[in-house]
Amino acid sequence: MIQLTDDEFNRLVTYIRKNYGIDLSKKRLLIEARMYSVLLQNNVSTFSEYFTILRGSENERITLLNKLTTNHTYFMREPRHFEFLRDVILPRQLQENREHSLRIWSAGCSTGEEAYTTVMLMKDFFRDHPGWDTRILATDISTKVLEEAQQGVYAPESLRNLSDSWKRLYFTTSGETCVLRDEVRREVIFRRLNLMDDFHFQRPFDLIFCRNVMIYFSKEAKESLIRKFYDLLKPGGFLFIGHSENIQRDATNFRYIEPSIYQKGQRETL
Ligand SMILES: C[S@@+](CC[C@H](N)C(=O)[O-])C[C@H]1O[C@@H](n2cnc3c(N)ncnc32)[C@H](O)[C@@H]1O
Repeated sequence: MIQLTDDEFNRLVTYIRKNYGIDLSKKRLLIEARMYSVLLQNNVSTFSEYFTILRGSENERITLLNKLTTNHTYFMREPRHFEFLRDVILPRQLQENREHSLRIWSAGCSTGEEAYTTVMLMKDFFRDHPGWDTRILATDISTKVLEEAQQGVYAPESLRNLSDSWKRLYFTTSGETCVLRDEVRREVIFRRLNLMDDFHFQRPFDLIFCRNVMIYFSKEAKESLIRKFYDLLKPGGFLFIGHSENIQRDATNFRYIEPSIYQKGQRETL
């Protein structure tokens, strides 16, 4: 194991917080453990030497993020959001949305289970209402998870919350793994995006998932991202965050609907 000096630790924590929002100030051991093999691969024995490499190499910065982000996820995680989508948001869209188009963003999508669960749910819902354009954007900072997401190959454990009928309908098996069918895979567009960047989209979203991402963010990064989400939603659009997260009510324009569900104001609210 290669140990960080206090100075190296502070430099790395500041760099990651400033550029990616993630607060690693209590993760010293995790950094040392996960970065050990990376330092060896780069033939260096101190973090200071590694920082010199990092400064000059975009590839190395990508490796660093692939190593230091926390990517745990699974299908139908925190199912209340999917019930709310099915029982509240989609029926309302059916009644009110004349364009028959829905824009959904899974921000911090990791290996894609959240976005793909949404696709399966919408396939079920819109089966009797053809003609809807319901593609989903899914973004993450880690290229490693995005590659896995695009492959759509999962361990059976990740599907444990899915019904047998969805497993049969939307997956095939190959050896020990479950392979997502193309009809689900092609509904999601995956992109690398740093949530700390100044990004723009051509059209606003109806729904943004940003679950279990801001939990690792500094307070400033979280507040600034919530303001960006607000601007990127349509009036009446929804934001889902993780169940263990919350938004300070006096620090936001979002309307609190129920734990971890927020709505951008509109004339006629729920
Ligand atoms: C624990 S996963 C959440 C996955 C899924 N949303 C869920 O709730 O199960 C958190 C993801 O946020 C991503 N992430 C962290 N900081 C980010 C940033 N600055 N920009 C984009 N994605 C980021 C990580 O790479 C990781 O894949």
